[in-house]
Amino acid sequence: MYLTDEEQVILDGEKGEGVQKAMELVVALGKIYGADGLVDITSAHLSGASYKTIGDGGLKYLEDMVNGGSKVSVPSTLNPIGMDRERWAEMHISEDFAVKQNRIVDLYGKMGIKTTCSCTPYVGVNVPKFGDHVAWAESSALSFVNSMIGARTNREGGPGALAAAILGKTANYGLHKEENRAPTVVIEAEIEDTLFNHSLLGQAVGMRIGNGIPYYRGIKPGLEEGKTMAAAMAASGSVAMFHVEGVTPEASKYDISELEVIHIGEKELKDAYDHLNVTDDIQLIALGCPHLTEKEIHEIASLLKGKKKKGNVEIWFCTSKAIREKCSDDVRILEEFGPVLADTCMVVAPIEGTFSRTGTNSCKAGNYLPTLCSQKAMCKDIAELLKVIQ
Ligand code: F3S
Repeated sequence: MYLTDEEQVILDGEKGEGVQKAMELVVALGKIYGADGLVDITSAHLSGASYKTIGDGGLKYLEDMVNGGSKVSVPSTLNPIGMDRERWAEMHISEDFAVKQNRIVDLYGKMGIKTTCSCTPYVGVNVPKFGDHVAWAESSALSFVNSMIGARTNREGGPGALAAAILGKTANYGLHKEENRAPTVVIEAEIEDTLFNHSLLGQAVGMRIGNGIPYYRGIKPGLEEGKTMAAAMAASGSVAMFHVEGVTPEASKYDISELEVIHIGEKELKDAYDHLNVTDDIQLIALGCPHLTEKEIHEIASLLKGKKKKGNVEIWFCTSKAIREKCSDDVRILEEFGPVLADTCMVVAPIEGTFSRTGTNSCKAGNYLPTLCSQKAMCKDIAELLKVIQ
């Protein structure tokens, strides 16, 4: 693996321990994956921010990084954490958890990372351009920017993305290289054009193709459909990039005539639905995986306007702080039913301390609620879920 003189000097420790450790990690990953060298990045997005997922070991790791003087050198944003920083008590979070969680966020902030705590930083906050090399963790977000924007990132883990953010460079392999971005399979989608069906479509495709690169025909996803598909495919499989004919910026480059074609229609969507729905009896409805956009909040408000909440099932709406502030009129309607939470989500929050059965409209959450939160899951479209509380 080729390193410039300047990169070698960093690896040799002549620029300090913080950057040396970052370089050691990026070079080690590069060697494992056959990188030919390093590539400059324009931004990073970091995961590993919830105290629930990183624990005291992660907290100590971050303390050491900050004490060693580590700072990021490119614009960097942070994924959701385990609680809303202002409204954690409404989430049944303990004070001990809140103190440690706030400490984690402070440490990321000290390293120069924008503590936006959202998994949709590409909505207005950290927006790569076509062809930019970036180092993003968060499987849904990195797939979105690879696919819908044409930026280039591998499926980074939290420590790898942080090391890349510190150096402003990442190892040049995988999806950073043109030859690895070609589709591997054609998906002929024949689905009714609803948001939830795009999530089920992503679920069905991820289950079938694992880590392939699908080329879709028959759909025209916008922001909301693209984000829910990206999330579902990354969770049911490990898809980090997809093309959509006539929609995504790199789709027209490829000759797909020789590729295997998979048909996904009603039957495959029903199979995906059955796979994720294991209970009809829920205690919590959690919407906003990935974080709700302005349009989604508006649509939910339209469904709830003039209605009254019934029963004991709680409902959480998860979004970014910026979107919550921007949509204040619609947020007031949602707040009649449950909290509109920023900074967090149903998967990285410690919901298992309070709930054991949760409903969601996201197939990504439908996959992770059982495995990461010990929940029995219900996965339905928003209008169906809202019937439970009206
Ligand atoms: Fe985002 Fe949490 Fe879903 S980080 S993509 S809302 S699991």
